[in-house]
Amino acid sequence: MVIQPTIIGNWKMYKTAAQAVEFIRALKTMIVNNSQVWLAVPFTAIHAAVKEAAGSDIVIGAQNMNSAKEGAFTGEIAGIMLKDAGAKFVLLGHSERRQHFHETNEQIAAKVKRALLDGITPVLCVGETESQRESGYEEVLKEQILEGFKHVEKEDADKVILAYEPVWAIGTGKTATPDIAEETQKYCRSVLAEHFGKRASNSMPILYGGSVKPETMSALMKEKDINGVLVGGASLDPKTFSQIVNFT
Ligand code: 13P
Repeated sequence: MVIQPTIIGNWKMYKTAAQAVEFIRALKTMIVNNSQVWLAVPFTAIHAAVKEAAGSDIVIGAQNMNSAKEGAFTGEIAGIMLKDAGAKFVLLGHSERRQHFHETNEQIAAKVKRALLDGITPVLCVGETESQRESGYEEVLKEQILEGFKHVEKEDADKVILAYEPVWAIGTGKTATPDIAEETQKYCRSVLAEHFGKRASNSMPILYGGSVKPETMSALMKEKDINGVLVGGASLDPKTFSQIVNFT
């Protein structure tokens, strides 16, 4: 089964609505590949980004949401609101959310469930820290994956995208080598296979994230279990991001 590559830019807490529009206007003229190009933009830029991306192959999404349908949760955002603004997907459980906002596997699992109920594609992010890599990453990843997918029914398995982002490679310039990324993502797929069966797991996209740059892209994408990438810093400039999108 061939999985079409998905390339997601995660803008984190960068770019106003006007800057998002400017970026998308430029990027549209630079894409020559037929990869899926997704942008996880700040909440305030979703509406404008969706409008600017209309008619192109660029898909707009968000970086977080609450697990409740709606309610008295000051400052939070609901999946139905993201959908209303035009978001098609949402990043969940990013390591920056786990680290700075103390999100637990349990909370992330509830968000994955809610995103599916609200009709938004969840992109579940998992990854080990440097010390966890040294002491054995398998258990940590297995727990993050099994817990994160806890409420996902087998028939919905391919509606969730898994993103492996080693914490030690995020924003550090230390991209995992293609060998390390492949070995780890192969392991992630084996965990999915244990849970959902081999057939389902083979059609589930697994993305790699962590210091992806135009120079590292091609080698990563040659690996069997790398079905796309999640890009932070290098997704902020349209020219650099287009070089990643247009990888050969
Ligand atoms: P960098 O590409 O800046 O390392 O960030 C990766 C990331 O966190 C994407 O979600």
